[in-house]
Order: sequence, then C-alpha cells, then structure tokens
Amino acid sequence: MSQAVAVALLLSLTVRPSRPLDNGLALTPTMGWLHWERFMCNVDCALEPDNCVREELFMQMADRMVEDGWKDAGYEFVCIDDCWPARQRDAQGRLQADPARFPSGIKKLANYVHAKGLKLGIYSDVGTRTCAGYPGSLGHFETDAETFADWGVDLLKLDGCNVPNWTLLAEGYKNMSKALNQTGRGIVYSCEWPLYEWPYTQPNYTAIRDTCNQWRNSGDVYDSWSSVTGILDWAASHQKTITPAAGPGGWNDPDMLVLGNFGLSYDQQQTQMALWAMMAAPLIMSNDLRNICPRSRELLQNPHVIAVNQDPLGRQGVRVASAAGFELWERPLSRDRLALAVLNRQEIGGPRLFPLVLATLPSSSYCDPRCNVTQILPEYRELGVQDLFSKLLLQVNPTGTALITLTPLKKH
Ligand SMILES: *[C@@H]1O[C@H](CO)[C@@H](O)[C@H](O)[C@H]1NC(C)=O
Ligand SMILES: *[C@@H]1O[C@H](CO)[C@@H](O)[C@H](O)[C@H]1NC(C)=O
Ligand SMILES: *[C@@H]1O[C@H](CO)[C@@H](O)[C@H](O)[C@H]1NC(C)=O
Ligand SMILES: *[C@@H]1O[C@H](CO)[C@@H](O)[C@H](O)[C@H]1NC(C)=O
Ligand SMILES: *[C@@H]1O[C@H](CO)[C@@H](O)[C@H](O)[C@H]1NC(C)=O
Repeated sequence: MSQAVAVALLLSLTVRPSRPLDNGLALTPTMGWLHWERFMCNVDCALEPDNCVREELFMQMADRMVEDGWKDAGYEFVCIDDCWPARQRDAQGRLQADPARFPSGIKKLANYVHAKGLKLGIYSDVGTRTCAGYPGSLGHFETDAETFADWGVDLLKLDGCNVPNWTLLAEGYKNMSKALNQTGRGIVYSCEWPLYEWPYTQPNYTAIRDTCNQWRNSGDVYDSWSSVTGILDWAASHQKTITPAAGPGGWNDPDMLVLGNFGLSYDQQQTQMALWAMMAAPLIMSNDLRNICPRSRELLQNPHVIAVNQDPLGRQGVRVASAAGFELWERPLSRDRLALAVLNRQEIGGPRLFPLVLATLPSSSYCDPRCNVTQILPEYRELGVQDLFSKLLLQVNPTGTALITLTPLKKH
C-alpha cells in the first residue's frame, strides 16, 4: 500500500468530533473581509487618511462589497481587527472605540453595514492587552460580550496575546464562548487558541470545536509566496490532527486571503484561492477593494472555486501525495463528488504536465467505472466523461495550481 493510500484510508477512518459550537452559525466557512494584513495598525489618519484604521475605511469597504459583486459572490462580513479601541475603557469598564478615528461609534457602523445586508466583525484579545497593546478582555468577558451584542456585532475575532500563563488560554476562550452565548445574539466566534497553545502542548481540537466557529493554528499570513507555502506545509504536516475537527459549524482557519495585493503572482493567487477552497478555509480577504486589479477580483469571485469552498458536506481536504515537485490534494464533496488540486511547487522552468491517471488516484473509486471531469482552474474547461484508465494531462505553471472536480457516473 502506498503512503498516499494509507493516509487517505486513515483519514477516512478517523472519527470526526460531531459536536460543533451550538450557535447555529458558520455552517459553511465564513466569507468576508478583514483589515489586518493590508492595513495593519495604521492609526496615523493625519498622514494617511485613506489608509488608516477608522470608520470610513470600513464604510468604504462595505460600499465596495455591495457595488462590486462581492456580496453577490458570498462575501458577507466586514471585519475590524486590532487597533480600533481607545487606550482606556470607559467609566463603566466597557471597551470604547477610539473617539478620533471612530467618532460615530461601533453601533452606528454596525447599522451602516447591516443596512447594506452585510455583517460586522470586531476584534479583542483573551489576554490583558491586544497584540498591539490595546485593552484586552481577560477579566471582562461578560462585559465585552454584552457590549459587542449591544452594538450589533456579528463576529468576534479573539486574539491570544498577553495571556499571563498559557494554561489560561483554554479557560479564557471557553469563558468568552459562554459569555457570547449568554448575550442571546448569534455572534460567529473566531479563536486563536490552538495557535497560542501549540508551543506548549498539543491543543484539544474536540474542545476547540465545542467552543469556537473557526480557529487559527499557524502564524499570521504575509503578502508573500513563502508565507502561503509555509501555511500549506503546516496544514499538510498536521492534517491528521486538524482535519477531523473541521465540519459545519467549525473550521480550521489558515488566515486571510492576500490576493489582490503586492506579493503574489497571478499563478500564486490561483494557488492560494484553490488551496483555501480545498482546506474548507474561511475566505476572509485582506486587500483594498477600492483598488484591486480585475483579474484578482474575478478569481476571488470565481463561483466554481467558491462552490468547492462552501460545499455543504464540510470535509476539509488533505495533501495525499507529493512527488517530482507536484503536490496532489483531495477533498471529498457532497453528492459523492471529489475535488482535486495539483500544485506545481517547482520554482524553475515553465509549465509542466501532470499526468493524471484516474486509476492510480488514492480516491480512484470516484471514476470507477466512469466520471465526469471539470477543470475549474487555471481556466474553466469541461474535460468530459472519463473512465478509470483515462490519462489526463494537466498543465500547471510554476507555483500555480490546477483545480478539478470529479463526478462519478453510475453504471446504467
Ligand atoms: C446557547 O447555547 C445553547 C445550548 O447549547 C443553544 O441552544 C443556543 O442556541 C445558544 N445561543 C446562542 C445565541 O448561541
Ligand atoms: C502556569 O500555570 C500552571 C498551572 O496553574 C503552573 O503550574 C505554572 O507554574 C504556571 N507558569 C507560570 C510561568 O506562571
Ligand atoms: C473562567 O470562568 C470561571 C468561572 O467563572 C472562573 O473561575 C475563571 O477564573 C475564568 N477564567 C478565565 C481565564 O477567565
Ligand atoms: C478534550 O476535550 C473534550 C471536550 O471538552 C474532553 O471530553 C476530553 O476529555 C479532552 N481530552 C483531553 C485529552 O484532555
Ligand atoms: C459533465 O459536467 C458538465 C459541467 O457540469 C455538464 O455540463 C455535463 O452535462 C456533464 N456531463 C455528464 C455526462 O454528466
């Protein structure tokens, strides 16, 4: 038995924790926009009024999301990351937005976003301070949950910096989960619990899935190919541990989509999009929707790729083989279909041909006796009905990805 077959078999036998966080949310991976990777902690609005973290930025992104097809494509959440609050809590001990940069307050911003049929996400930290040094939620979980609910917030990203002792991570994330539940408002809960626990211990993914709707495992994404491949390699090398936890209601979060910025070539952008779809990852973009190149936009809005990401079965894909500079990833889809991604990891030379022999796939049963093959990336092509012994030559550019789906055809 080849290693790839063994891995596939093992994964199919692994029992998946069945109980997600019981808030009825994130039944498919969250889709939206988050300011961090592109705008970071830019608070100098005098110098850079258009690129600083203030209410206009989020209102403008909400406008673009509705007007430029993002909302129709499924992107729903407009999310604030670190650096939104004032340095001090108010007299009642509540978090308050920075008065100069968010003069209207978060509640007004939530109303603005809701009026467009979108949702608002906010950020806090499970420790004493956020990563950028703003007030954290430790010791204030109930108050902060109530504040966010009062404001009409729809998603909370809770970071994990500045926790006095890592043993408080599990308790803190659970306490905030309970506090959110007690507000009675449906708030998607995005955690970083495993990311901060990995240096000390193997996180308990059953408990994490019980507590959070999505959770970060690995470090922050940067606008670079090495960052994207670092995240993919981390996911593949931990797939036995993390994939069983993913499913409707709870997802592994490999961090933001950085397509449409500066660091990725078009092929690399296709790879990030395809592999985030394979991993059933939240599709949270961080880019400037006011100024994004049409090709990146079209890729981010590609309905076929998004359909793979949002597949209702909710199984996360895995890397099943890696050879000759190619990687093969598989993701089982609903209605007995399969998505396959072929990634060309070779960073020299030109396009290379990957001979896809359906009979030798770890999941060869999908094409036994025949299947209907559709290529989604790098461009949409119907490859038609194939049988077990068909050999398809997929051409893949260096650092690019071919994404295809297989639909089994029953014997008549
Ligand atoms: C709170 O938890 C209960 C029990 O798990 C669940 O039935 C309810 O829907 C939750 N409410 C919210 C707002 O998440
Ligand atoms: C962290 O907490 C654990 C368990 O309560 C304790 O044993 C350990 O000494 C603490 N570590 C530090 C650095 O305080
Ligand atoms: C979590 O809540 C429990 C019960 O209220 C409390 O004893 C504990 O200190 C809290 N832990 C943290 C880290 O907030
Ligand atoms: C992991 O968490 C689950 C759910 O909270 C619990 O039942 C289980 O005992 C925990 N496993 C370990 C190894 O602590
Ligand atoms: C194969 O899939 C394509 C795209 O979904 C569809 O148009 C075509 O009818 C399918 N062919 C068969 C034989 O099912």
